[in-house]
Amino acid sequence: MNLSIQLAPKNQHGLLLTNPVMTASGTFGYGTEYSHMLDIQKLGAIVCKGTTLEPRQGNPQPRLAETASGLLNSIGLQNIGVEALIKEKAPIWASWQVPVIVNIAGESVDDYAQLAGKLDGVAGISGIEVNISCPNIKAGGAEFGANPKSAAEVTAAVKTATSLPILVKLTPNTSDIAEIATAVAEAGADAISLINTLKGIVIDITRHRPLLGSITGGLSGPAIKPVALYMVYEVAGAVDLPVIGCGGITTASDAIEFIMAGASAIQVGSASFTNPRAPLDVLEGIEQFMEKEGIEDIAELVGAARHQA
Ligand SMILES: Cc1cc2nc3c(=O)[nH]c(=O)nc-3n(C[C@H](O)[C@H](O)[C@H](O)COP(=O)(O)O)c2cc1C
Repeated sequence: MNLSIQLAPKNQHGLLLTNPVMTASGTFGYGTEYSHMLDIQKLGAIVCKGTTLEPRQGNPQPRLAETASGLLNSIGLQNIGVEALIKEKAPIWASWQVPVIVNIAGESVDDYAQLAGKLDGVAGISGIEVNISCPNIKAGGAEFGANPKSAAEVTAAVKTATSLPILVKLTPNTSDIAEIATAVAEAGADAISLINTLKGIVIDITRHRPLLGSITGGLSGPAIKPVALYMVYEVAGAVDLPVIGCGGITTASDAIEFIMAGASAIQVGSASFTNPRAPLDVLEGIEQFMEKEGIEDIAELVGAARHQA
């Protein structure tokens, strides 16, 4: 069976995955934290924690709240910063078989460009995932990914700064996801990943206050799966680029739904918190499904639900 997938066909380096199962940023650390619990080298790719120019402490506690079939988080991009990542993590990744993609986050277009420039050519880094769900400080705090113009600006700036494959990760907190996807595709993205978390609030009724320290958070987990699937379906129909589906994937059948909606690869996120083996379980389940259905190439499943009967 062939499960391999090329995620950056238009890029000079390409981004060839042996299978379509990736980990979602912020839910799998730097990969190293999970290496004693599962054979991470079997995964398609690892996307590391969101990385910023400077180290960040993140938001005030509490930063996690469980919801019905989901999780609300306001971690606030706690991370070690790009310099430490290059010095301490990349050399470890360079000895791995599994490709590592660095997720980046900024407060200005220039932050993203600087991050991409610093990561360019670093051994152990196979690609960049651009998190455009961050507030654009100069534009009053609206998310870069909420409008096509700023989403394209960030993409173009990253593209100019690096020759690495670029995955642009879309926010669902916008009115027309296909329009944003089209804009980032035209600005030079190699692939599009979606979705990031949906904005939400939980109230602690005993304190008469919002539960999270920073009031709002991002909703993830099974609760967002139908929304994510819808958006993947829309984007896969709008752009001629590989799409990476993410949002509530817990089992192989969830993953197959995304692939049939048009995703070439998928990311397992919050599911790793309850089952650290979830990404491998999903991969094994996909293999079993293909075997049962007599499917020899995963490409046969990509977008299968979009074709006319
Ligand atoms: C605790 C936590 C931290 C996250 N951190 C990041 C991050 O740093 N960068 C990013 O692009 N997405 C981040 N995400 C979003 C996930 O990568 C993913 O897009 C989202 O959780 C939906 O997938 P899921 O429902 O499978 O968790 C984070 C999610 C969680 C739950």
